[in-house]
Amino acid sequence: MDEGGKSVTGMISASMMCADFLHLAGDIRALCDSGVEYLHIDVMDGHFVPNFTLGPDYVRAVRSAATRPMDIHLMVERPARFIAAFEPRPGDIVSVHAQADAHLHRTLSMIRETGATPAVALNPAQPLWTLEDVLGDIGVVLLMTVNPGFAGQKMVSGALERIARMRRLADERHPGLLIEVDGNVSLPNARAMRAAGADIFVAGSSGLFTGGDIARAVAALREAIG
Ligand code: DX5
Ligand code: ZN
Repeated sequence: MDEGGKSVTGMISASMMCADFLHLAGDIRALCDSGVEYLHIDVMDGHFVPNFTLGPDYVRAVRSAATRPMDIHLMVERPARFIAAFEPRPGDIVSVHAQADAHLHRTLSMIRETGATPAVALNPAQPLWTLEDVLGDIGVVLLMTVNPGFAGQKMVSGALERIARMRRLADERHPGLLIEVDGNVSLPNARAMRAAGADIFVAGSSGLFTGGDIARAVAALREAIG
């Protein structure tokens, strides 16, 4: 973190829903050896988003092979029910969607009690002022740059301007707040997202798990986010 509270360098959070499930241990080793900062776990319940993905058993298996913390993205209704099941710990990030939780402040406190960093995720149509009264309770805001549920989508229009607005809001109200972006983080998009003020980049099929060489893809993304 530099004196302004902004991260000095961009950070990579590898989207594990895009990993090779038939060679998962190898992908995890390659990602950790390549220096990604987080392993991003997209958890989907088929209600909050129209898809099902990764659960607690998967996270337990990934943790056993990983040397990097988890970045657990709960795209589920009433997420407070499931936090303990993912066994969050210091160094992890746990993000919940503001729309999915009637008791957001309590849920963020639950996450903080585990030692993990609480984060709020916002879908593309969700106004930034939703965060107004919880800015002081989070360490990360996760801005969805696609509509959540599936990998392989295109960044929604207005996403870059929204990142820049969030950067201004964070610098004004909570300088230490990190901005994470999730969805279609391709190399050109990553450059533009970084220029707009993003700090953490969820990289999946758009920029990491393509071409079969994880180390090379991580190096290219690292260069793009500076
Ligand atoms: C959307 C998913 C995706 C995934 C990254 O709900 O969360 O953003 O992590 O996949 P790509 O890179 O294909 O957008
Ligand atoms: Zn995600």
